[in-house]
Amino acid sequence: MKNYRIAPSILAADFARLGDEVKNVIAAGADWIHFDVMDNHYVPNLTFGPMVCSALKPYAKKPDGTPVPIDVHLMVQPVDALAASFADAGASLISFHPEGTGHVHRSVQAIKSKGCQAGLVFNPATPLDVLDWVIDDIDLILIMSVNPGFGGQSFIDSALRKVEQARKRIEASGKDIRLEVDGGIKTDNIARVASAGADTFVAGSAIFGNPDYKAVIDAMRSALAAV
Ligand code: DX5
Ligand code: ZN
Repeated sequence: MKNYRIAPSILAADFARLGDEVKNVIAAGADWIHFDVMDNHYVPNLTFGPMVCSALKPYAKKPDGTPVPIDVHLMVQPVDALAASFADAGASLISFHPEGTGHVHRSVQAIKSKGCQAGLVFNPATPLDVLDWVIDDIDLILIMSVNPGFGGQSFIDSALRKVEQARKRIEASGKDIRLEVDGGIKTDNIARVASAGADTFVAGSAIFGNPDYKAVIDAMRSALAAV
């Protein structure tokens, strides 16, 4: 079995109890914590900022103390200043949408210069072309399988073709780059997404919408084991 990662999105968690939610979902088997930052500008919704990230940082660890990466997904415009604030707030990976910045290469370097891993996010209608020039500089590609801005939307099937294309580009690059998919991932479609080439799976409503987080994460892992 590949080295799969499951990244619950706390967008679907109980915001009044975020620390406990992070702790509980890690105890249930989460590999990363996915942190959706929306600015009411690049996307219509508004969520949380770096202060919430740093407040949650002490909770982002396994019961034995091993740190659990905080996977920050910036749906913001512009990118660089906020990315730096999230690096200071304890983010491990910071991803942004190329449309959110005037200078993609500079934004990638801004994230890496702060010691974080950098990712690029592709909306359902955004082509992968920008990777021609920056794939050697990034650590993660995030394919959106819904339009960014809200949880609980349905998976857009064309994302599977884009995942296949991204996997080919990663193989051609010879680099160790994670391929993450975000939006509408459930226990009954995660295997298809993995078969297309993804290795990292964001899931918000599927996990936090069920009272038994471990049952959902275990079911996702069983589905992945059969790929
Ligand atoms: C959407 C966010 C997603 C969202 C996924 O803009 O980027 O991370 O939380 O939610 P579900 O899994 O409910 O589709
Ligand atoms: Zn996200």
